[in-house]
Amino acid sequence: MNSEQTNLISDVREHVRYMHELGLEALAADLPVAGEAVARQPERSSSSIQPVERTAPPPDLKAQRFSPDPEKRKPGERIAALPSLAKRQRPQPEKQEKDDENTVLMMAASNPAETEKEEPALIEVSPVLPESTDTMEIIRADIGDCTRCPLHAQGRKQIVHTTGNFNADLMFIGEAPGADEDEQGLPFVGRAGQLLTKIIESIGLKREEVCIGNINRCRPPGNRKPEPEETAACRPFILREVAVIKPKVIVVLGATAAHNLLQIKTPISHLRGNFHDYFGVKVMPTFHPAYLLRDPHKKREVWEDMKKVRDYLNDAK
Ligand code: URA
Repeated sequence: MNSEQTNLISDVREHVRYMHELGLEALAADLPVAGEAVARQPERSSSSIQPVERTAPPPDLKAQRFSPDPEKRKPGERIAALPSLAKRQRPQPEKQEKDDENTVLMMAASNPAETEKEEPALIEVSPVLPESTDTMEIIRADIGDCTRCPLHAQGRKQIVHTTGNFNADLMFIGEAPGADEDEQGLPFVGRAGQLLTKIIESIGLKREEVCIGNINRCRPPGNRKPEPEETAACRPFILREVAVIKPKVIVVLGATAAHNLLQIKTPISHLRGNFHDYFGVKVMPTFHPAYLLRDPHKKREVWEDMKKVRDYLNDAK
């Protein structure tokens, strides 16, 4: 085995160790000891790492740099790529040193401030919500008299926009307007909305202090669930609003909101009760108030979820 192969194996082992540090315990990497490696065709294995499909942040938002130093990472910062092995101790051939130097020089040309840092990060990732140049007004203007999905022609009276405090620490996201919301042009004003107001008040907040929106802004006929093409057309706008509002916590009400924000399909009964992450924002899925109207026994679980939200917000003050 030549030295390039030995180095490659060392690199992979180092990456695997690093991934374990990050908590990827399920990684089933059966790496040979460097000296025992034999050349062979790559095998297709049923990998034990399940890639989690994530919604990209709003398209106009720029990626941020990932700090390779765990001490310097912001809470919630996630890794979209492995950090470079820049700190590797192994002596490098001269050409490698030249390449590294060139990389640093290229970074200096693109961003002089970066070179002054001790450990320049070389990997572009988007682990937290970056600064947005959007405003709620711009987003609303972009939505306009929307005809992007079939719902506009299926009895919609009004588009129901996000309302409340756009500087809120706490945001609620539901599924889509019902008949009352369609009538009044405001989210969560029907029976489910009145229950939501009580839920908000149960943790010591007023409705006006939080922000409330929906994945879909037009009422699906007969209050059916929005179709995937309908959520796909509307979701970008709520994601842009999240980037503007930058809440500390988002409570997603019901499966449609949870699945569309987190881009996972886990049942709401499994998702609820624990915080999830949306680009550094804590996300608490819980049952939809309309479901609580049908099954009031589930209110206890919602109360448990909301206590966690309240405690997190109090601690974060
Ligand atoms: N249900 C929702 O999901 N949103 C509303 O605005 C009203 C009811």
